[in-house]
Amino acid sequence: MELTQEKVEFFINETKKISEYDFSGYSLKSFTRRLEKILSDNHTDIEELIKKMDKNRKFLETVVKEITVNTTEPFRTPSLWKTLIPIIREKFSKLESINIWHAGCSTGQEVYSMLMLLYEMGMFHKTKLYGSDLNEDVLETARSGKYRIHDFDEYWDNFTQSMSDFPKFNPEEYLDVNKRRGIVKVKSFLVEKPVFVKHNLIKDGNIFGIKFNMIMCRNVLIYFDHDLQDKVFNFFYENLTEDGILVIGKHESILSPIQRKFDRVDSIYLVKNEEDNWIF
Ligand SMILES: C[S@@+](CC[C@H](N)C(=O)[O-])C[C@H]1O[C@@H](n2cnc3c(N)ncnc32)[C@H](O)[C@@H]1O
Repeated sequence: MELTQEKVEFFINETKKISEYDFSGYSLKSFTRRLEKILSDNHTDIEELIKKMDKNRKFLETVVKEITVNTTEPFRTPSLWKTLIPIIREKFSKLESINIWHAGCSTGQEVYSMLMLLYEMGMFHKTKLYGSDLNEDVLETARSGKYRIHDFDEYWDNFTQSMSDFPKFNPEEYLDVNKRRGIVKVKSFLVEKPVFVKHNLIKDGNIFGIKFNMIMCRNVLIYFDHDLQDKVFNFFYENLTEDGILVIGKHESILSPIQRKFDRVDSIYLVKNEEDNWIF
């Protein structure tokens, strides 16, 4: 079933009326594709879908989860981690405390990857780490730290490649792998560390009341239109420390004027010293 733009906008407006979710700024192309799939899987049309979402909160959450893409993996994009490691070493070694926010963290594999890295770098004890997502369901998995082995099996190479600077690094010091039960469980000293909270990047602002040394928001803004991306990039800039780091996805980039406030390495944006921004 092919949806007209009018129908998609109708869905977005109705969803806004019956819930706290506002997809107005999402990029229409991929949003439409996913909405079409939901309709086809449920053998229904927009009007019926909205009615069911209104009556059944659980169903509404399921639709929201399917509309937002939740795919993630441990140490996703190893080349990024390799570039990030010396930057973290240089910027964070001398700090007494570090605050890191993973916005749009999905099921948490990225958060636990970061914690393993910080542990190897001897910075685990001084770091506070927050993970947030729009979707409560994925956060439940993140909090449990329990995954199907299938979610890790394809990615052991990511560990080796990303952590090649740490020859003694052994994932099994952080993960209990139970092949018989098909489960990978993150060890409790890691699971207890991060705080996972529901947070909507579009409207919730900084609920943490602190500035961050690093914000990682990868493969989230790619689903937003340019205006919304600009808004969120400005918001991130305002909530980074003056020496902060913003990490976005490999296929994402900052196109708005706020990019001038950063130096860029790969998809890592380093807040420029204010003095460098002076124009004489
Ligand atoms: C593709 S996953 C990215 C996960 C992880 N950052 C990574 O790169 O592997 C995108 C996540 O963004 C979340 N998301 C989408 N819109 C959001 C919003 N408005 N606020 C917060 N999270 C959002 C989705 O629920 C999903 O879990």
